[in-house]
Amino acid sequence: MSSIAAYDPELYALLHVGNAGDLDFYREACSTASSVLELGCGHGRVLRALASEGKRIVGLEIDAGLLGLAERLCSRLRQAEAASISLVRGDMRDFEIEGRFERIIIPYSGLYCLSSSEERRRCLTQIRRHLAPGGEVIFDLYFADPTHDELVGEPVKEDGPTKVATLRWRDQVWEVRERSRWDPTQQRVDVIYEHVPKGGGAPVLTSLCHHYLRTGELLPLFANAGLALEALAGDFVGGPLREESELVVGRARAQ
Ligand SMILES: C[S@@+](CC[C@H](N)C(=O)[O-])C[C@H]1O[C@@H](n2cnc3c(N)ncnc32)[C@H](O)[C@@H]1O
Repeated sequence: MSSIAAYDPELYALLHVGNAGDLDFYREACSTASSVLELGCGHGRVLRALASEGKRIVGLEIDAGLLGLAERLCSRLRQAEAASISLVRGDMRDFEIEGRFERIIIPYSGLYCLSSSEERRRCLTQIRRHLAPGGEVIFDLYFADPTHDELVGEPVKEDGPTKVATLRWRDQVWEVRERSRWDPTQQRVDVIYEHVPKGGGAPVLTSLCHHYLRTGELLPLFANAGLALEALAGDFVGGPLREESELVVGRARAQ
């Protein structure tokens, strides 16, 4: 019998590899900044892309296992690059980091990890406090409006299992299948990943819960924290947000 595992950070890192083009986007968006704060830095996937001699790049992460993996992976960078990164165990809803940052980034739908408008308000208030004058807040989210709009009035939508990846982990090949459950009333998505070892054996199940936002909610959310949302694109190269977009890429500054 399989049950939901306390996930292994390495397994998480192998599956959650980001969206195509995101590293180039964040590298470019942060290229002129001398200080960058990433909220929810996970295993340091984006931090490592931003590492650069002489910069201050801080990653904040709530999960000790992921932070440990980030530390290990960042230590493999060239010394001068590794020295640009500091890792902080903390909560994006309530953090205090010395200094202010020219960029504060929340990649890969990290904002959806916050479960209520109160949690989002607290997070954005802290962001506003940590933003340097003229600094920018930059984030990307998956575009939830189309699925949400399709579902309004329906109880829930269950999808899958759908094969989403094949991974090599612990000397085995694993096929990963995803099952998701969308609840439009709660604006909540629960995902279960079933990792099935190809050579036989018990599957490993991991789970993820997101509280998604509709794009119409973003502007007031940021405005209430004193942040003006200046751009909302539909991809990482500045294309417009359309019905068929998969992403919402936002940039905000202090009002
Ligand atoms: C979707 S992952 C993104 C990871 C990384 N930014 C990337 O792009 O690969 C969201 C991350 O936010 C972290 N997280 C969730 N809630 C958090 C909180 N309240 N404070 C800090 N980190 C949090 C999760 O543990 C996870 O690593």
